[in-house]
Amino acid sequence: MKISATALALASLTGLCYSFTTTNTGSFKIRPASSTAILSATVEEAATYADPSRYLSDHPKNNVPPHIAALVGRGLHTRPDHPIGIIRAKIQEYFASLPNEYIVYDAEDPIVTTTQCFDDLRIAPDHPGRSPSDTYYLDDSTLLRTHTSAHQSEHLRSGVDCFLCAGDVYRRDEIDSSHYPAFHQLEAVKLFPKEDMAGADGLSGEDWENSAECKVIAEDLKKTLEGLMDHLFGETEKKWSEDYFPFTTPSYELEIKYEGEWLEVLGCGVVHEEVLEMADRADRRGWAFGLGMERLAMILFEIPDIRLFWSDDDRFHSQFKEGQITKFKSYSKYPPVLKDIAFWIPEGFEENDFFELGRGIAGDLVERMELIDEFTNPKKGKTSKCYRITYRSMDRSLTNEEIDALQDELRERVLDLGVEVR
Ligand code: PHE
Repeated sequence: MKISATALALASLTGLCYSFTTTNTGSFKIRPASSTAILSATVEEAATYADPSRYLSDHPKNNVPPHIAALVGRGLHTRPDHPIGIIRAKIQEYFASLPNEYIVYDAEDPIVTTTQCFDDLRIAPDHPGRSPSDTYYLDDSTLLRTHTSAHQSEHLRSGVDCFLCAGDVYRRDEIDSSHYPAFHQLEAVKLFPKEDMAGADGLSGEDWENSAECKVIAEDLKKTLEGLMDHLFGETEKKWSEDYFPFTTPSYELEIKYEGEWLEVLGCGVVHEEVLEMADRADRRGWAFGLGMERLAMILFEIPDIRLFWSDDDRFHSQFKEGQITKFKSYSKYPPVLKDIAFWIPEGFEENDFFELGRGIAGDLVERMELIDEFTNPKKGKTSKCYRITYRSMDRSLTNEEIDALQDELRERVLDLGVEVR
């Protein structure tokens, strides 16, 4: 069986980060639900987000580096002829064909509070996803949203019943062809009419989860998402499994078969009653889901590397047209330059700090940073890690000299992380 580079890249994607098993908004615009011209109105507004000084400060808790601040506000999801914008429009087109009217949000402020991103969603104070090794903080209480679920509660509180919400999200993470510190999610929430849920009035916890009404919601959620997948991929094989998110119960993940591989495409579930209560909507019940648009776009357009979405190269952009899903034709595959670096790590070493240092120095020339060897010296009680860094440009050949200079800088700056280079 032939497995494409895209399938391999995607197979390595980890689960959604608020899933328990992996332990691991401000200004916005409401468009009339009937409107199908969902892109135009908010592009200008979103342009105000492209000011790096909004994200950089000398606050001691600010861990946003300049190369991340420079990504915010690019609005790839609002560009009609960008693969991410094309996918978003396709998803919104599907929801516009359903009987319920979904209000569309696509230009919310990527800066949110810890309350919006975590507390309103029952994400515990000690959840690893909240730590500064995983999340970009501006100060103690504001951050770059790590998921579009950060907007769920404010929209629910405002009285909206059905909505979609798309945007750029930010996570400190590993570096390879399917992981980039900025990516795009699309979220949806649907509340059901009170009358339809009357039979479960007053039920909570397991009683609610075992009720016929809760099952109706879960069934509707699955049917809606299966329809979405068919809309995007044509008839495709799908697999549901149980999952865990603090803000939904029961929770599920959906995988689809792509070139012989099962790929996780989204997380979803019945909205947790405490989330509804905190949003002053305790009298209602409903479902929510969140999906990663890069993952879908990489599959649909056969885009082999996530960095391409951020490229300015016209050889990339000229291939895509509004409303059309076409296969990406690689215009080049320039040779990689591989460099290894080994060092003794101090206590509390955070891999993500090292990955971010690499991205900060070499930008999108870093394709992958991979741990290739690790051992502990029993006498010293110290651990050594060796990483292989793959440098490769998407649009030109690299010279040895320029990569040597980048690698030298990495060897020097990594000392700031308290390591001892070997
Ligand atoms: N926000 C979750 C994530 O990014 C996905 C999700 C959204 C799950 C809505 C359930 C409901 O990991």
